[in-house]
Amino acid sequence: MYDAAKVKTLLDQRKPGHALPQAFYRDPAFYEFDLDAIFGRVWLFAGLDLDVPKPTGYVTLRIGRTSVILVRGLDGAIRGFFNTCRHRGAEICQAASDKTSRLVCPYHQWTYGLDGKLLVAGGMPKDFDRAGHGLKPIHLEVVAGTIFICLAATPPDFAPIRRSLEPLLAPHELSGGKIAHEATIIEKGNWKLVMENARECYHCPAQHPELMKCFPELRREPPFERDDAAFRAHCRTQGLEVGPFKVEGFEANRFALRGGARSFTIDGKPAVAKLLGQVGDGDVGSLRFALDPNSFAHATGDYAFLFFCLPKGPEETLVHMKWVVNRDAVEGVDYEVDRLTRLWNVTNDQDLWLVENNQRGVNSAGFEPGPYSPVSERTLIEFTDWYVSQARRALA
Ligand code: FES
Ligand SMILES: [Fe+2]
Repeated sequence: MYDAAKVKTLLDQRKPGHALPQAFYRDPAFYEFDLDAIFGRVWLFAGLDLDVPKPTGYVTLRIGRTSVILVRGLDGAIRGFFNTCRHRGAEICQAASDKTSRLVCPYHQWTYGLDGKLLVAGGMPKDFDRAGHGLKPIHLEVVAGTIFICLAATPPDFAPIRRSLEPLLAPHELSGGKIAHEATIIEKGNWKLVMENARECYHCPAQHPELMKCFPELRREPPFERDDAAFRAHCRTQGLEVGPFKVEGFEANRFALRGGARSFTIDGKPAVAKLLGQVGDGDVGSLRFALDPNSFAHATGDYAFLFFCLPKGPEETLVHMKWVVNRDAVEGVDYEVDRLTRLWNVTNDQDLWLVENNQRGVNSAGFEPGPYSPVSERTLIEFTDWYVSQARRALA
């Protein structure tokens, strides 16, 4: 458990435009606070509808101490539940992903339908209230093939996120694609250090030479403020919305890649011969969307890359990455997995070291929260300000 007064005291100590006090990055009690105040209350990016097997299947995700099931019912709809049996609380689904017609608890075989209803509870009295012991639902929204969940009993309004994301992402038709590759890595860093690193490109010129061949120079302005009228007009003539859309904790926009690059690849050329979705000539820059606290994604004309993290411990974070391509693209003919994934894999390896190295330094007795660059780390300032405001809201 955490001490709310102590969290408040340290929040009050944070200087505007500066990193957080050390405890927020490493203290187990502050990690518990984050699980409650952030991951227990706000909308989280949780993957793709392509993740959930058809016709009836599930995936599990672990958010700190809490495992959830995202399951596709007989009606095709995806629902979310806490992966906790209503008998004595055992975790029901064990696999990361599986197909099934029933959710059976391994302990005493209480059996639930894919809609969460309790169907079988052997040995319980005749008048036992089965209807009152269905799986506890979580809030779940699907937007243009992406899944968002919220563990709170009463979630924040999701409509602004949907309104911002749908018109930009829908043409990329992620639901009609296929996951060509996915990877999960553990970074030995607090989730906020993982996301702080993902929210700024101040470090990119020195640390990501490969990415910088196609990623716009961000030292001065984030991409959604670029004055690139020709690029935007080009996208619009192809029926593509460009944004920017920005609501609390979420932003989405389409921006031009650097030096004429058409895709996030080592040489800037497309990685996939078949385009993904209704993207005109495919020369459509990148649609970037990012949801606090845990994700960002880029969709170019030929593929979409999705990154989201989930906290695993005070100094441990699980990072999920997925690459989506046209369903009809044939591996070895239309794309090679190595070429498709190389740029983000190289970048993520570099970021993993940066995050873990940052954690080591933050753990030092000599750590004092330093100032963010108001020019090059503006989106990071927004991330940390968002965190602080959510934390204050939870304490209020
Ligand atoms: S804990 Fe699930 S059936 Fe007993
Ligand atoms: Fe990076």
